[in-house]
Amino acid sequence: MRRRGRPKIRRGARVLGLLCAAAVLAAAAGCGQAVPDGETRNIKIGVSIYDQYDTFIGLLTDRFLRLAREKEEALDTTITILQESAAGSQMDQNAQVEDFIRSGCDVICINIVDRTDASVIIDLAETAEIPVIFFNRELVEEDLERWSKLYYVGAMALQSGRLQGRILIDLCRSDFKKVDRNGDGLLQYVMLEGEAGHQDAIMRTQYSVSTVEAAGYRLERLGDEIANWNRAQADNKMTQFLEAHANAIEVVFSNNDEMALGTIDALHRAGVAPEDWPVVLGIDGTPAALQALQKGEMAGTVLNNALGQAQGMLDLACAVATGSPLPNNLEDGKYIRLPYETITPANVAQYLEAG
Ligand code: BGC
Repeated sequence: MRRRGRPKIRRGARVLGLLCAAAVLAAAAGCGQAVPDGETRNIKIGVSIYDQYDTFIGLLTDRFLRLAREKEEALDTTITILQESAAGSQMDQNAQVEDFIRSGCDVICINIVDRTDASVIIDLAETAEIPVIFFNRELVEEDLERWSKLYYVGAMALQSGRLQGRILIDLCRSDFKKVDRNGDGLLQYVMLEGEAGHQDAIMRTQYSVSTVEAAGYRLERLGDEIANWNRAQADNKMTQFLEAHANAIEVVFSNNDEMALGTIDALHRAGVAPEDWPVVLGIDGTPAALQALQKGEMAGTVLNNALGQAQGMLDLACAVATGSPLPNNLEDGKYIRLPYETITPANVAQYLEAG
C-alpha cells in the first residue's frame, strides 16, 4: 500500500525530506513511476548503521543522503530518511527496525551489527511485508534466501584482498630490494585485521597474502592483530609490533584505511626514519588515506566504492518502495556488488579530484 501526503517523522531520527517536481524524469531515473498531476509520492526509508563512528560507513551514508536529495530534485517524490545508529548493539538495532515498521517505512536498509544474527530483523520485516536491503555487512546466503524481499548491496570482498596483494607484487617487481629492506629474500609483514567474523576482514586477510605468495614471493608473518577497523586500536597494535620487531617490519597489510592511518600515527610517534618505513597498504580509498598516499606515507589502497554502493542502495530502495523495475545491476534478484579499484601514487590525483 502506498502512502500519500507528508509522512510522520519519528522524534530522534535524522530526517531528510524534500519535495520535488518533474514526474516525467521519474521513470527515466529508474526510481518511482509517474503519478497523476498534483499528487506527490512519498518514499520513507529507515536506515540503521552498526556504529556511528565508522569512517567508511559515514562516507557511505553521507553519499546516500546526498544522492537522495538529488533524486528528489529529479522526481515528483519526497524521500524521507530515518537514520539511526545501533551503536554496536544487535538488540538496539532490532528495536530500531520495529520503530521503522511502526513509522510506516516503505523499505529498510540495514548495516547489520552481527551478520550471523539476522533472524529477528528478517522475521519482523517479512511479517510486516517491508523489504530489507542489507548493506556492507553481508548475511550468510541461507539467511538472505529466507524471503524474496531481502537484498544485499556491497562489494566483492575477495577482490579487495587480491588487489591489495597486487599492489605489493607491482612494488616488488619494480624494486624488490626497496621492499625487502634487510635483503633476506623474505617479506616480513604484519597484518591488521578488521572485525572478527566480518566477511571483508576474512577475505582481505586471506587473499592479500595468498595473492603475493601465488606470484612467487615468500612472506614471513611477524604479527597479526585484530584492530576492529579502528585507527586508535591500530595505532596501539602497531606500537606493540614496533616494540617487538623494531625496523624489521617491511610490509603492513591493513584490512582498511583507518587502520593503515593508525599504523602511520604509530610510525611517526616512534620516530621511524623514512628509509626504514614499511610499505603500508590499506583498503577503502577514504579522503585521509588518499592524502597519506599523496604524501608517500602509504604505498597504495583499494577503492571501496562508497558512492556506487550508496547509489545502488538508493536505486534499489526506490524501486522496491514504488514497485518499479529493479536496477539492472541486481544479480540473482538479490545482490548488487560494486567492484573495487586499485589506487596508487600513479592514479591518486584522479580520485582526489573526484572527491
Ligand atoms: C570497510 C571498513 C568498515 C567496515 C564496516 C568495510 O567494508 O572497508 O572500513 O569499517 O566495512 O563494516
